Order: sequence, then C-alpha cells, then structure tokens
Amino acid sequence: MSRELKGLVLSGGAGTRLRPITHTSAKQLVPVANTPVLFYGLEALRDAGITDIGIIIGDTGDEIREAVGDGSALGIRATFIPQSAPLGLAHAVLTAEEFLGDSSFVMYLGDNLLRDGITPLVEEFRASDPDAMILLQHVPNPSSYGVAVLDGDRVVNLEEKPAAPKSDLALVGVYMFTPSILDAAKAIAPSARGELEITDAIQYLIDEGRRVEPHVVTGWWKDTGQVEDMLEANRLILDVMEPRVDGELINSDIEGRVVIEAGARLVNSHVRGPAVIGRDAVVEDAYIGPYSSISTGCVVRRAEIEHSILLERVHLEDLDARVESSLIGRDVTITRTDAKPRAYRFVLGDSSVIGLT
Ligand code: TTP
Repeated sequence: MSRELKGLVLSGGAGTRLRPITHTSAKQLVPVANTPVLFYGLEALRDAGITDIGIIIGDTGDEIREAVGDGSALGIRATFIPQSAPLGLAHAVLTAEEFLGDSSFVMYLGDNLLRDGITPLVEEFRASDPDAMILLQHVPNPSSYGVAVLDGDRVVNLEEKPAAPKSDLALVGVYMFTPSILDAAKAIAPSARGELEITDAIQYLIDEGRRVEPHVVTGWWKDTGQVEDMLEANRLILDVMEPRVDGELINSDIEGRVVIEAGARLVNSHVRGPAVIGRDAVVEDAYIGPYSSISTGCVVRRAEIEHSILLERVHLEDLDARVESSLIGRDVTITRTDAKPRAYRFVLGDSSVIGLT
C-alpha cells in the first residue's frame, strides 16, 4: 500500500431530509456549536495526518468552496471535485478517480461526526494493510443503515437498509480503501434507488476474496442528516466545549459551560450553558437555555430559547412561549406585532415546519 493516504470528503448530495435548510444551502455547512459540521471531519482527517483532501461537491459547491477556501486555515490542502449528480457514494469515488490516482484513502461523509476522531483507526488501517476497512457501531435500529455481518475479524456480508437485518452493526460514515475499490465501483450496477451503492462495491470486494476488516467504534457517532440528529450533535459538542467570554455582559449573568464570542452583547439576560453566542449577536431581556447555539449576528430580544440552533442573523423578538428543539435558517425573523386583526402572519419557504402552542 502507498504510505501517503489521501482524504475524500463527500459534500455533495441532495439533503432532502434537512429541507427547508437545504433548499438554499449545503447541509454540511449547518453549524454545530457554531462551526460547520464539515469542518469537524476535515479536522479529524488532518489530526490523523491526512492533509491532501479531495472534497466532492454538488449543487451547493460554490458555498462549500467559499467556506473551505484552499483549506490552509484548517491545515489541509483542498481539491474540489464536482460530481455531476448525487448518484451514490460509489459514484462519488469514481468521480474522484483522477484525484485518488493509486493512493489508498479515507472516505469521510461530510455530514458525519465522530467524537474520538479517526487517528487510531487510520493507524490500524496502515498497520493491518487490508483491502478495505469499514467502521461500524452497534445501533438499536439497524434497518435504517447499511448493516454488516462479521465472521471473526472479517466482514462477510453487507446490506443497505435491510428490512430484516442480520446484525445490529451499522456502517459509520468513514471508510478506508485501497485503489481496489475503484475496480469494484466500476463492476457494480445501480441499486433499485438508482444509486451506485458503496455497500455493493464493498460486497464485490468480499466476493472477490479481498480482505475487508471491521472496526467497531465505541465513542459516539452522529450522522447529522436529520434535524433531531443535528440538535443531538450540537448537544454532544457543546457538552465538551471550552468555556470563554470575549463579548460584553451588561447586567447579565451566565452559568455553566458558555462561550460568548467577541462583539456579542448580552443585556439584562441570563444564559445557562452549555451554550454558544456568536459574534455580534445581541441578546436582550432574554433567556438562553442549555444546548443553544446562536450564530453570528442573531438578535434575541424578550424571548426564551433552549436546545436549538439559530443560523446567521436570525431575529427573534417578543415571543410568549419558549422556543425549543428548533433549527432556524439564516435571516429568519419571528416577531410579534400589535396589528389588528390579531392573526398569524407568515412568509415561509417551501417545506418549512411551524409548531404553534
Ligand atoms: P446521504 O445523507 O446518504 O444523502 P443525501 O445528502 O442525498 O441526503 P438525503 O438522504 O437527506 O437526501 O449522503 C451522505 C453524504 O455524502 C452527504 O454529506 C452527502 C454526500 N453525498 C455525495 O457527495 N454524493 C452522493 O452521490 C451522495 C449520495 C451523497
């Protein structure tokens, strides 16, 4: 195996399960504790010594390019690889053929988070030198995932979202491959849902007698493809964040694990951590409760919020009931007016979800 491993981060896709956020922006850039989820993956690769990283992009490619730049701020060298359409994870691998050359590589799904990073796994891959290594985790609902069956230290069977799973071992969104995966991806046909499935490509390697090894992950792993997962990932990251106050507190108090970024202003407010208040945010006569991430430029006035993510420049004002378990997209405004008749007045994008009390 070539010693120099490359990284391949998948940041295209349709993101249908995170609409309406993904109508206008990339799901990999939704912030977790005010940092795009994609950056955690890039940093995990960097920490494992992998800095030459190809990033698969789709319709939201421009936004991803702008956020990552050349990668130097994250300590990596980024190469952007446009994929014609989200035709599957194995299709993404084939799209990257020229970038990958004859290197072995780590493939990382750009909306996944692993608490413990990937450094020991990459070391194990280098030492053991199999044809492929897949990361697995025991889950209570395996039929929502790719599922693996093991025989000792070998993977013998893989199935994508099986109705009757043969084990409770789900595929985590990180894979380690030798160039043999390219031949496998070329040999398989699209699945019933029209995608070239990475599970089929890995099964092809197994059927060809190649050595595919498992690594069972014990620390938490989150696929942030849906709102509840995003909020859960936010909770997990806020729980381990280093507290810091760079903003201004006026007649306000904070308790617990709290980050207040520079330029943020808290007036007559209470923040109970874990929570992060982004740059230039204004929090006035408000309560910010545990597991809240308030992005740059938000305004929260005479309102209460808990267990929620506010993207940039959200404006919440004069709300009677507490906002909780919410993911609110950029530039959204929710306010109360005295206009008569007393009625709800909405301007909502496609697929918005509102829960009224
Ligand atoms: P998924 O979450 O499986 O797919 P998706 O982004 O299309 O989302 P949804 O099911 O909600 O419509 O994809 C996992 C990751 O891989 C995600 O970061 C998007 C990326 N991806 C690609 O880059 N190219 C592809 O062809 C596919 C299917 C996914």
